[in-house]
Amino acid sequence: MKSVDQLLAEGVAGRRVLLRADLNVPLDKVTNEITDDGRIRASLPTIAALRDAGARVVVAAHLGRPKGEPDPQFSLAPVAARLGELLGTDVPLAADVAGPDASARAAALTDGQVLLLENVRFEAAETSKDDAVRGELADRLARLAELYVDDAFGAVHRKHASVYDVATRLPHAAGRLVAQELDVLAQLTATPVRPYVVVLGGSKVSDKLGVIEALLPKVDRLLIGGGMCFTFLAAQGHGVGSSLLEADQVDTCRRLLDEAGDRIVLPVDVICADRFAADASRSLTPADAIPDDLMGLDVGPLTVDLFTAELVDAHTVFWNGPMGVFELAPFAAGTRGVAQAVAAVDGLSVVGGGDSAAAVRQLGLDEESYGHISTGGGASLEYLEGRELPGLAVLAD
Ligand code: 3PG
Repeated sequence: MKSVDQLLAEGVAGRRVLLRADLNVPLDKVTNEITDDGRIRASLPTIAALRDAGARVVVAAHLGRPKGEPDPQFSLAPVAARLGELLGTDVPLAADVAGPDASARAAALTDGQVLLLENVRFEAAETSKDDAVRGELADRLARLAELYVDDAFGAVHRKHASVYDVATRLPHAAGRLVAQELDVLAQLTATPVRPYVVVLGGSKVSDKLGVIEALLPKVDRLLIGGGMCFTFLAAQGHGVGSSLLEADQVDTCRRLLDEAGDRIVLPVDVICADRFAADASRSLTPADAIPDDLMGLDVGPLTVDLFTAELVDAHTVFWNGPMGVFELAPFAAGTRGVAQAVAAVDGLSVVGGGDSAAAVRQLGLDEESYGHISTGGGASLEYLEGRELPGLAVLAD
């Protein structure tokens, strides 16, 4: 896989480079302001290096999941503004993805200038399952530049036109963020320094079963919290009230507990509420005695102590997924406690993207106390699961 630094060494001055970045940041639903700009900041090293080398940079990115047509709610306008602030230069936003405005603006770029294309998912072809449909968009994207650099680690698990197909049409390289993410993930998969502890949370156990199956033979302990723990508690025969439960996954969770129960650690207490709201009335219950009319929205303090004890001697930790509904302050303590225990690890601590990375920043925790905060939630999980990631496979060709 060629690196952007090799490309830079060959010389990119005056050349148009299409850079796929993952600028999919959360926006405030009311004000449309960016609530966490971590992914934009993580994209800066590659963009800045290309600019400094005199490249004409055309950035392609997605935001959210629009329905394949322009939708102002998903415009990259706030991202263009923030990217410009961080780079200290004006970053204009094309009115389309790879249409007349994008073409005209890309052609008019001067050395070191940066252009952001509008949300690539405004084109239905971006995410199409039909190779020919994606190919037509990839052709138009490829005409905007002479070289392609993929730095969108968070999207490398998607076989999308701007991630996969365009790389088959232009000389290509991996950006610095992709290289850094792969370096850390390789440390987790090759020979992790033991004890190796994985902490998984988040709402859906069905999303994580693949990675659980792949990781269980490799880890010393797997700590499970968040909404997904209730399907495991149900598999142990406990009632879970009105907590999140994936009934069709109970048998699989039971099998995992039978096969590797000695390595799986589940919550021992749960903060319950009568409804999903910040002002709901709360109660703390043992994890095996959740009342029928209550739902678990966070792990309890004894669980935080238990998980902290399991993490204290770890030398390698991967954490993905919040322990509770941390967006609601009364249910944030579990995620905060586990985040602090992961930060205190003497060794490599990796926060696996998405909600857990957002939690670290939104809860005001020090990003520097983690070895690595990944920008890719789904991408890092699929990597650890051992699946082939289309956006990486194509760069290797
Ligand atoms: C992410 O948010 O994990 C990446 O930006 C990929 O987004 P997606 O899950 O909508 O493809």
